[in-house]
Amino acid sequence: MTTPNLFKPIKVGASQLSNRVVMAPLTRTRAEKHVPSDLAVEYYTQRASTAGTLIISEATYIHPSAGGHKGREGLVPGIWGDASIIAGWKKVIQGIHSKGSKIYIQLWDIGRVANYDVLQQTGHDLVGPSAIAQAGDEDGAKHVRALTIPEIKQKVQLYVDAAKNALEAGADGVEIHSANGYLPDQFIHWNSNNRTDEYGGSIENRSRFSLEIIDAVSAAIGADRVGVRFSPWTTFQDMEVNEEKSLPQFKYLFEQLEKRAKENEKNRLSYIHVIEPRADGISDAIPKQWQSNDPFRNIWTGDLIRAGGYNRETAIETAQEDDRTLIGFGRYFIANPDLVYRLENDLPLTHWDRPSFYTPGPHGYTDYPFHKKE
Ligand SMILES: Cc1cc2nc3c(=O)[nH]c(=O)nc-3n(C[C@H](O)[C@H](O)[C@H](O)COP(=O)(O)O)c2cc1C
Repeated sequence: MTTPNLFKPIKVGASQLSNRVVMAPLTRTRAEKHVPSDLAVEYYTQRASTAGTLIISEATYIHPSAGGHKGREGLVPGIWGDASIIAGWKKVIQGIHSKGSKIYIQLWDIGRVANYDVLQQTGHDLVGPSAIAQAGDEDGAKHVRALTIPEIKQKVQLYVDAAKNALEAGADGVEIHSANGYLPDQFIHWNSNNRTDEYGGSIENRSRFSLEIIDAVSAAIGADRVGVRFSPWTTFQDMEVNEEKSLPQFKYLFEQLEKRAKENEKNRLSYIHVIEPRADGISDAIPKQWQSNDPFRNIWTGDLIRAGGYNRETAIETAQEDDRTLIGFGRYFIANPDLVYRLENDLPLTHWDRPSFYTPGPHGYTDYPFHKKE
């Protein structure tokens, strides 16, 4: 039998890969004061064990003002200009590179879903596109305010600085997290953005923040080291999904990115990463009949990572549809440090243990077994 596309090499942006199985970004809340720990070095190095695999890091704060998670703030890594942070990432990245694999760091600003008191401890405000909190967040509703235009420009600059730091630490690229109801996605969605300036009020304007970040980061480090993640069908954190509005909104974003690439191939992003309608945040979902990523796939002619609810069979089938699709695995990568080896050899997969997704220490993190080599 010929090798399925999933296990064939592909060049994604500047990175040569040996296969099309990608480790999806997975928050694991085990950093120490925003510094990736030695345990993280072990965890990522394990998952890089098949040479030529692309790993996307857990979501990583671009700056202290971009965080604000109640109860787990310091457990999320950062990538701002702090010597210990950069040194921590260097160790993780050296581990991944020692196995011959690649890493993109996922750049994160959580915007309005942060906690006001946590942000105040570092002297920052709770901000979003508009003074709209997610439904049920009474504390957020009291405090959240709209970013001013100069503040939006500063945010874009923070993404640029973070991307440069990621490369300084040795990363192969960065993924801009424009999915799952975080800051760029809050701008994209009409129900979290009621601005009347150039950042709201129309499809073009709601897309502007994400596109400005993408353009600025690409100009700084090269588009062949930049990917972006979108979740058109995710309702997580109060993002509205709507038959009339979602499709044109996200089509526009894909069209804009394809347009930039057509004008100049140097501006082609290394990939777009899109979440399937059968995943919503960190859980499964039942897609509605009108929810499909095919319209976006027909617009964007570059490399595409599709993630959400894949198993071996559906991953092979989907990667077979063309010669530019990669498949992101989330939960199976948590539970299988040698996932690529197991998929290639059709070996049984370990099921994930949900209670230890976010707990401290090695349990459920570095203690999942490798399959015995045949
Ligand atoms: C524990 C956990 C943490 C996650 N953290 C992130 C994250 O940091 N950034 C992100 O974009 N998605 C995150 N996700 C979503 C995954 O990347 C992925 O889209 C989702 O798990 C669906 O894929 P799967 O069915 O292969 O698990 C997380 C999912 C889980 C289960």
